Amino acid sequence: MTTEHEADAGSTGRTIAIGAAAGVAAGLLINLVRKAAVQAPTVFAGQWDAALAAEHAAALKIFDLLEATGDSATARRSFLLMQLKHAISKHAFQEENVVYAIMRDQGLADAADHLNHEHGYVKQYFFDLTEMTKDDPAWLPKLKEFRDLIESHMREEEDELFPKLRSKLSADQNKHITAAMNKEGLKLA
Ligand SMILES: [Fe+2]
Ligand SMILES: [Fe+2]
Repeated sequence: MTTEHEADAGSTGRTIAIGAAAGVAAGLLINLVRKAAVQAPTVFAGQWDAALAAEHAAALKIFDLLEATGDSATARRSFLLMQLKHAISKHAFQEENVVYAIMRDQGLADAADHLNHEHGYVKQYFFDLTEMTKDDPAWLPKLKEFRDLIESHMREEEDELFPKLRSKLSADQNKHITAAMNKEGLKLA
């Protein structure tokens, strides 16, 4: 037998539980909307190779902003570096999990392994630039070295290897790769 007081406590507990569940659901929804917004430019760019090229251009714009900073703009450097790392990590996740994998399946294993190897050095640059103090006079030269590597990597993908892969795939396969890549991107968006 429950007293009125206990019944009240039970209903309060349920109300709190329902409130918390609604809070979690709202949080999940906000996160989903945020992820969709981050992935939207990639989705709207269309086919997988055009989408990746659009992400390359977006990343280079962040490099431009970073290169325009002075050694005293330490907070801005940290913030932009974090943004760049997030954008490029999502980009690399899409390439490594879908595009480089299909490249290997299509007889382009050496090229895929070479690109994947360069992604390792992209991570290295992010590590070094994060570890260095942001007002270190060597910071900007290191960033420029990083840009040189990443720009030549992008050129190789856009001008040579991605067109080669696209031409090996049927229209349906290209469409499938686009969808699979967007699904991966959403995970890290
Ligand atoms: Fe890449
Ligand atoms: Fe790329």
